[in-house]
Amino acid sequence: MKVKVPATSANLGPGFDCIGIALNLYNEFELIDRNNINEKNFEKENLADKAYKHFFEKTKTTFIDKKVKISGDVPISRGLGSSATCIIGGILLANEISNLNLSDEKLIDIALDLENHPDNLTPALIGGIVLNVKDEKNKFIKIKSKSLNFLAFIPDFLTSTEKAREILPKNYSREDVVYNISHAMLFINSIKDGNITKNCFYDKIHQPYRKNLIDEYEKIEKIAFDNGAKGVFISGSGSTIGAISDENFKEFDIKKYNLKNKWKVLNLKIENNGAKIIKD
Ligand code: HSE
Repeated sequence: MKVKVPATSANLGPGFDCIGIALNLYNEFELIDRNNINEKNFEKENLADKAYKHFFEKTKTTFIDKKVKISGDVPISRGLGSSATCIIGGILLANEISNLNLSDEKLIDIALDLENHPDNLTPALIGGIVLNVKDEKNKFIKIKSKSLNFLAFIPDFLTSTEKAREILPKNYSREDVVYNISHAMLFINSIKDGNITKNCFYDKIHQPYRKNLIDEYEKIEKIAFDNGAKGVFISGSGSTIGAISDENFKEFDIKKYNLKNKWKVLNLKIENNGAKIIKD
């Protein structure tokens, strides 16, 4: 049994910990019988194993002892939701093999025990652009958008989400909060209308602090705008820089720019369907 889970980009500018988008770049997770494992080829316990196991603990069902094998293209620790793919992958495999058929809402509640913010988890599960609202319950709402193109500028250095969260202030001024609410509203309205402008991605909660962790941010931002981006932002907690356009990007070779770090550019689209179970 296998599941295919999409990469994601969280925050999208002003939607810190609230907005995420699924992309057509994937990891695959496969359940393997323990007696088929050559231990040398597998890490002891990966995050997908942990999530798989956690599902049984949380639902108080009898554990079915298997190993989760991970493969795929989502880069690790680059702000493209690789940990969320592992959590959703492990939980979906457990949901399937246990025949519990839990709802998406219940699956996300279990996933949140392992990553305490939903903005990568929900789009990885259901696809599209997802707004997350936390009050008495965790709600998530998929919004309709016109077709969008996404450029991921992925550097050869990583950022740790933990560190990128630690450097953020504990408190914000009322002006900054209002600034973010207004830009998050602008983002959602513009996405629905297909009329994206660069100020949809303006934010005062995380990007001003995190930009300093991403060497050559301004250079990449300029390259993105010069090649057709309508908006540029830090993908999740970085180190990837994301760019969005409702039109095609120009074709360009990142190597022609005089950059210190090695950057890989992926031209992606929204994945609208989310994670998918693949039965043998
Ligand atoms: N919203 C999260 C953050 C995404 O920016 O820290 C990364 O896990």
